[in-house]
Amino acid sequence: MKKMILLAMGLSVMLSAADGAGLYKKCAACHGMHGEKKALGKSDVINTMSKEELITSLKDYKAGTRNTKGMGALMKGQVASYDEAQITAVSEYISSMKQ
Ligand code: HEC
Repeated sequence: MKKMILLAMGLSVMLSAADGAGLYKKCAACHGMHGEKKALGKSDVINTMSKEELITSLKDYKAGTRNTKGMGALMKGQVASYDEAQITAVSEYISSMKQ
Protein backbone atom coordinates (compact mmCIF):
# COMPACT_ATOMS: atom_id res chain seq x y z
CA MET A 1 0.00 0.00 0.00
CA LYS A 2 2.78 2.37 0.98
CA LYS A 3 4.52 1.64 -2.30
CA MET A 4 1.35 2.43 -4.24
CA ILE A 5 1.02 5.80 -2.53
CA LEU A 6 4.66 6.65 -3.16
CA LEU A 7 4.26 5.67 -6.79
CA ALA A 8 1.17 7.82 -7.16
CA MET A 9 2.93 10.77 -5.54
CA GLY A 10 5.93 10.32 -7.80
CA LEU A 11 3.69 10.22 -10.84
CA SER A 12 1.83 13.38 -9.95
CA VAL A 13 5.10 15.23 -9.36
CA MET A 14 6.31 14.12 -12.77
CA LEU A 15 3.07 15.10 -14.45
CA SER A 16 2.97 18.56 -12.93
CA ALA A 17 6.65 19.15 -13.68
CA ALA A 18 6.12 18.14 -17.28
CA ASP A 19 3.18 20.49 -17.51
CA GLY A 20 5.03 23.71 -16.68
CA ALA A 21 5.07 24.76 -20.33
CA GLY A 22 1.38 24.00 -20.66
CA LEU A 23 0.56 25.99 -17.55
CA TYR A 24 2.58 28.94 -18.85
CA LYS A 25 0.70 29.17 -22.17
CA LYS A 26 -1.99 31.54 -20.91
CA CYS A 27 0.65 33.72 -19.21
CA ALA A 28 2.54 34.27 -22.49
CA ALA A 29 -0.12 36.65 -23.82
CA CYS A 30 1.02 39.26 -21.30
CA HIS A 31 4.47 38.14 -20.16
CA GLY A 32 5.83 37.08 -23.58
CA MET A 33 6.64 33.63 -24.98
CA HIS A 34 9.86 33.57 -22.95
CA GLY A 35 8.79 35.66 -19.97
CA GLU A 36 10.77 38.54 -21.47
CA LYS A 37 8.08 41.25 -21.59
CA LYS A 38 6.74 43.69 -19.06
CA ALA A 39 3.13 42.50 -18.85
CA LEU A 40 0.79 45.32 -19.93
CA GLY A 41 3.84 47.57 -19.68
CA LYS A 42 3.61 47.26 -15.89
CA SER A 43 5.11 44.11 -14.43
CA ASP A 44 8.77 43.33 -13.97
CA VAL A 45 10.38 41.00 -16.52
CA ILE A 46 9.75 37.62 -14.92
CA ASN A 47 12.32 35.35 -16.58
CA THR A 48 15.07 36.98 -14.54
CA MET A 49 13.38 36.01 -11.25
CA SER A 50 14.57 32.90 -9.42
CA LYS A 51 12.30 29.90 -9.04
CA GLU A 52 11.92 30.70 -5.33
CA GLU A 53 10.98 34.34 -6.01
CA LEU A 54 8.44 33.20 -8.58
CA ILE A 55 6.86 30.68 -6.24
CA THR A 56 6.62 33.24 -3.43
CA SER A 57 5.14 35.95 -5.64
CA LEU A 58 2.58 33.61 -7.24
CA LYS A 59 1.50 32.28 -3.85
CA ASP A 60 1.12 35.83 -2.61
CA TYR A 61 -0.96 36.80 -5.65
CA LYS A 62 -3.16 33.76 -5.04
CA ALA A 63 -3.58 34.78 -1.40
CA GLY A 64 -4.36 38.33 -2.49
CA THR A 65 -1.47 39.83 -0.52
CA ARG A 66 0.75 40.97 -3.42
CA ASN A 67 0.11 44.07 -5.51
CA THR A 68 3.30 45.74 -6.71
CA LYS A 69 1.97 47.71 -9.72
CA GLY A 70 -1.68 48.16 -8.77
CA MET A 71 -2.66 45.07 -10.74
CA GLY A 72 -2.39 42.33 -8.13
CA ALA A 73 -6.10 41.51 -8.47
CA LEU A 74 -5.57 40.70 -12.14
CA MET A 75 -2.72 38.32 -11.28
CA LYS A 76 -4.81 36.78 -8.50
CA GLY A 77 -7.32 35.77 -11.17
CA GLN A 78 -4.53 34.23 -13.26
CA VAL A 79 -3.25 31.89 -10.55
CA ALA A 80 -6.41 31.38 -8.46
CA SER A 81 -7.00 27.90 -9.88
CA TYR A 82 -3.35 26.76 -9.62
CA ASP A 83 -2.52 24.46 -6.73
CA GLU A 84 0.87 24.36 -5.06
CA ALA A 85 2.28 21.75 -7.47
CA GLN A 86 1.17 23.79 -10.46
CA ILE A 87 2.66 26.99 -9.04
CA THR A 88 5.95 25.14 -8.54
CA ALA A 89 5.84 23.67 -12.06
CA VAL A 90 5.13 26.97 -13.79
CA SER A 91 7.79 28.74 -11.68
CA GLU A 92 10.34 26.11 -12.62
CA TYR A 93 9.46 26.58 -16.28
CA ILE A 94 9.69 30.40 -16.16
CA SER A 95 13.05 30.38 -14.37
CA SER A 96 14.37 27.88 -16.93
CA MET A 97 13.74 30.40 -19.75
CA LYS A 98 16.33 32.85 -18.41
CA GLN A 99 18.67 33.91 -21.19
C1 HEC B 1 -3.65 39.89 -18.58
C2 HEC B 1 -2.19 39.98 -18.47
C3 HEC B 1 -1.46 38.98 -17.58
C4 HEC B 1 -1.51 37.59 -17.62
C5 HEC B 1 -2.33 36.71 -18.57
C6 HEC B 1 -0.61 37.12 -16.60
N1 HEC B 1 -0.01 38.17 -15.96
FE1 HEC B 1 1.45 38.05 -14.52
N2 HEC B 1 1.36 40.07 -14.27
C7 HEC B 1 0.58 40.95 -14.99
C8 HEC B 1 0.65 42.27 -14.39
C9 HEC B 1 -0.06 43.51 -14.88
C10 HEC B 1 1.52 42.14 -13.26
C11 HEC B 1 1.85 43.20 -12.19
C12 HEC B 1 0.89 42.90 -11.01
C13 HEC B 1 1.05 43.78 -9.77
O1 HEC B 1 0.58 44.91 -9.75
O2 HEC B 1 1.63 43.28 -8.77
C14 HEC B 1 1.98 40.75 -13.25
C15 HEC B 1 2.91 40.25 -12.34
C16 HEC B 1 3.44 38.97 -12.37
C17 HEC B 1 4.55 38.50 -11.60
C18 HEC B 1 5.40 39.32 -10.62
C19 HEC B 1 6.28 40.30 -11.36
C20 HEC B 1 6.32 41.63 -10.68
O3 HEC B 1 6.17 42.65 -11.39
O4 HEC B 1 6.47 41.68 -9.46
C21 HEC B 1 4.72 37.17 -11.90
C22 HEC B 1 5.77 36.23 -11.33
C23 HEC B 1 3.70 36.83 -12.86
N3 HEC B 1 2.95 37.93 -13.15
C24 HEC B 1 3.53 35.57 -13.41
C25 HEC B 1 2.44 35.20 -14.20
C26 HEC B 1 2.09 33.85 -14.52
C27 HEC B 1 2.85 32.61 -14.06
C28 HEC B 1 0.97 33.90 -15.31
C29 HEC B 1 0.16 32.75 -15.88
C30 HEC B 1 -0.39 31.82 -14.90
C31 HEC B 1 0.64 35.31 -15.50
N4 HEC B 1 1.55 36.06 -14.79
C32 HEC B 1 -0.39 35.77 -16.31
C33 HEC B 1 -0.16 40.61 -16.12
C34 HEC B 1 -0.51 39.32 -16.51
